[in-house]
Amino acid sequence: MLQTVDHPLINDELTRLREPSCPSPEFRLRVRRIASLMVPAVTADLPTHVVPCNTPLEITSGCKLSRDIILVPVLRAGLGFLDGFLDLIPHASVAHIGLARNEETLEPEAYYINHPSVLEHSDIILLDPMLATGGSATEAVRSLVNAGAKSIRFACLVAAPEGVATLQQAFPDLPIYTAALDRCLDERGYILPGLGDAGDRLFGTDV
Ligand code: PRP
Ligand code: URA
Repeated sequence: MLQTVDHPLINDELTRLREPSCPSPEFRLRVRRIASLMVPAVTADLPTHVVPCNTPLEITSGCKLSRDIILVPVLRAGLGFLDGFLDLIPHASVAHIGLARNEETLEPEAYYINHPSVLEHSDIILLDPMLATGGSATEAVRSLVNAGAKSIRFACLVAAPEGVATLQQAFPDLPIYTAALDRCLDERGYILPGLGDAGDRLFGTDV
């Protein structure tokens, strides 16, 4: 259930944003572009149904998405990924999950959760640029499942094999989409080669 979304434009953007000299405004733009470029792959199997369609000339048939889409950025860094998805799916609702990784234990700590009360009938796309140990993504998926979500997929920019394994072990059926599958984690839980701290680079904090 892991798909690496491999595209020359994505690879070009990702290579440029990995550079430590890429400043926050440019970093934000590149993350947004990669997110948009990933949307077709991430949404390719969303269910649709046939509907009548009027054109100025005649009646034909078209097809529409069968369910609402809810985008769920994991705060903070997921916000950087959100706009690129909203650019192509403007009618999506947006829920928020606030998680911070405790940098000593590497365990995620939830500090904010806000989503529609009914999740069961929607397709949910969970967004976080970084899948490192997998603790944050696993916690986020768990909280959505506990709240009734039935259809969840996870999209990230850079994944570590360790994080993919953890998430797949917890949720074997969860589709995971990443722009890059990197090599491993370092001893501080950072992805190698990675791009550093995505939240800090997006928002210009502690860089
Ligand atoms: C980063 C990132 C993920 C998490 C990944 O967030 O955005 O949420 O780390 O690490 P994990 O897979 O080991 O859990 P961070 O906790 O640094 O918070 P921030 O987005 O507010 O900077
Ligand atoms: N979070 C980040 O922002 N970067 C990493 O490499 C790991 C976790």
